[in-house]
Amino acid sequence: MTGDFYDELSPLYHLIYDNWNESIARQARELDAVIHELWGDRVSDVLDAACGVGTQAIGLAGLGSKVTGSDLSRNSVQRARREAETRGLGIAFSVADMRHLFTHHGRAFDLVIACDNAVPHLLSDAQILEAFQQMYQCTRPRGGCIISVRDYASMELGDTKVVPFGVRHEGPTRYLVFQVWEFHGLIYDLHLYFVEDRAGSECRTRVMRTKYYAVSISPRITRLYCATGRPSIPPEKLLRVLIRRHAAGHERCAAQPREERRILSGATSRDHEIFRQSANHRVNPAAGGRRA
Ligand SMILES: C[S@@+](CC[C@H](N)C(=O)[O-])C[C@H]1O[C@@H](n2cnc3c(N)ncnc32)[C@H](O)[C@@H]1O
Repeated sequence: MTGDFYDELSPLYHLIYDNWNESIARQARELDAVIHELWGDRVSDVLDAACGVGTQAIGLAGLGSKVTGSDLSRNSVQRARREAETRGLGIAFSVADMRHLFTHHGRAFDLVIACDNAVPHLLSDAQILEAFQQMYQCTRPRGGCIISVRDYASMELGDTKVVPFGVRHEGPTRYLVFQVWEFHGLIYDLHLYFVEDRAGSECRTRVMRTKYYAVSISPRITRLYCATGRPSIPPEKLLRVLIRRHAAGHERCAAQPREERRILSGATSRDHEIFRQSANHRVNPAAGGRRA
């Protein structure tokens, strides 16, 4: 279902952004700053485990990293490949489920990334743990992992929400892009609408549907990563950065660029503290997944 959603979305994916190319460049700069802060010059070989149409993979390759990208969605991978070729970048793209990441790639990388809320497409803790185990295996000693997820813990969840993305223009066509979220506990149905306005008296609306798990970053995701089956995970192989997505109440979603700056601004000191605690198994498990 997730793969189908992104297969259908892939030709329109750039419209989610106000300016996709600027976003590629900005995310790359900010990711690169976080990478250098945490790993110095040790990262040159990057695996993007949910590359989609290539937003982060293209940006990081443009800055000189050797990038490998994989994703569940075949059409997204095809577009990523085309976009990289157009920009003269050599990125090895393939189709893979992140739950079979090591089985698929068969080697370790300096850094594994899965950005822009890809992990919460896995709809249970068991599935997330499965993916994290594979990411762990794909991570070299002294390497790391960057996962960016929406900060659900700081959002008011439940009921039905309208999440506007904005108005985009492409040639003579104007697109109105927005989402509707319908909650069923912590799982929600996401309906993504593109209203295509060609200045006639009627508009064409396309809608695509998928599901998300509103999993909280802290402490549940960190605990899951720390539960990859090893009693003591070497710190350098732990999830080094939990990049938090800005608390996007529906009224804040229009401010995509500001949100993205926050997405890529690195872990907060609170994240580090929760991360340290969860690594030592001192977090109260009952707190996992609690909504603010
Ligand atoms: C919101 S998109 C982000 C894509 C890309 N990181 C970007 O920012 O352009 C989420 C991506 O996660 C991918 N995805 C979801 N579940 C996946 C899975 N189990 N394995 C691999 N990729 C998955 C989707 O196909 C989609 O491309």
